[in-house]
Amino acid sequence: MLDLLIQNASLPDGRGDMSIAVRDGKIVEVAAGLEAPAREVLDAQGLLVSPPFVDAHFHMDATLSYGLPRVNQSGTLLEGIALWGELKPLLTQEALIERALNYCDWAVAKGLLAIRSHVDICDPRLLAVEALLEVKRRVAPYLDLQLVAFPQDGVLRSPGALENLTRALDLGVDVVGGIPHFERSMADGTASVKLLCELAAERGLLVDMHCDESDDPLSRHVEMLAFETQRLGLQGRVTGSHLTSMHSMDNYYVSKLLPLMAEARLHVVANPLINITLQGRHDSYPKRRGMTRVPELLGAGVNVAFGHDCVMDPWYSLGSGDMLEVAHMGLHVAQMTSQVAMRQCFDAVTGNAAKLMHLQGYGLETGCDASFVLLQARDPVEAIRLRANRLKVWKKGRLVAETAQIKAKLHVKGRPDTVGFSHS
Ligand code: FE2
Repeated sequence: MLDLLIQNASLPDGRGDMSIAVRDGKIVEVAAGLEAPAREVLDAQGLLVSPPFVDAHFHMDATLSYGLPRVNQSGTLLEGIALWGELKPLLTQEALIERALNYCDWAVAKGLLAIRSHVDICDPRLLAVEALLEVKRRVAPYLDLQLVAFPQDGVLRSPGALENLTRALDLGVDVVGGIPHFERSMADGTASVKLLCELAAERGLLVDMHCDESDDPLSRHVEMLAFETQRLGLQGRVTGSHLTSMHSMDNYYVSKLLPLMAEARLHVVANPLINITLQGRHDSYPKRRGMTRVPELLGAGVNVAFGHDCVMDPWYSLGSGDMLEVAHMGLHVAQMTSQVAMRQCFDAVTGNAAKLMHLQGYGLETGCDASFVLLQARDPVEAIRLRANRLKVWKKGRLVAETAQIKAKLHVKGRPDTVGFSHS
């Protein structure tokens, strides 16, 4: 006897009329037109069932702090950093936990069931680290939270940051972070990449650095990140987040860089909502977009995910935990409008992000966790177009969120009673 049988589902790979059979929190079969006794049978009516959304890059220690202690009036990166500096001494563990748990509620309702969050370790109290480790424990039944020890003010530039970072790892933070472009010099940036990759190699940990989040085409720390990854045998275990300087780099240099990144099996995270709003701020016109070269990276065989980065915090006043909004922005900013590229944007907030995080049991195959989302859309492109409603969200076979079908009622003579925004 199955626990759940979903019938007549469309899958992201284009297969239709598919059934998904679930027992004991696992997918036990995925096949066309399956019939079997089950406690619950659900007709998906041809709608899309997707693996859960995954956010590869977030800052949960700052989220939902909008307005504390004041609002970012200019909306710039620099005022955001200043504001975060004002907020940090006022943070309490209790309030931080409460805000993070609230955000996780939003995430689950949006079918976002795995998040990699950076946590600032520059405060020697490690208050945010302890708070987010507590949040990680509490949300574990319904959301996978992976934490990165992030030295926001520079591991070399900020006194005590290396010691704090090591302590954070000792406490159970999962991933080694960094911010080489924020160190005092190019040489210190290089030294920080070497030091942090060696630390990760010693401890058998993954690496995820904020890297080259700059419009300066000469910010080339990603080259060193690829080099150290190769040297230390960390292939497939290292992520470069942002990499916005690549947008402005010389094309010839990029033609050398892309194969080095592919060779090191670096993962890349672009953060479209944040890159498009924070980069290019020193430009008059034309203004650069600032997002890294997503189609070219994918073309070179590099795994690219899209992250949300910020929701209602000192850097970004908007957002709701909707990874389809992130994919929608990424698609537009990178001009990824071909049929293949639009589907790649969906992958960037699902499978690619899961791969980067080394998530276990992710996917819609036999043996995977029964974690998936029923969307009010028929395929990934329609899901992005509509930022589709999440009708039902399951985690390991358990229903964790539901939203009613959205349909507008129309009061126009001679026209249909309802509007569903679907073209079919
Ligand atoms: Fe970030």
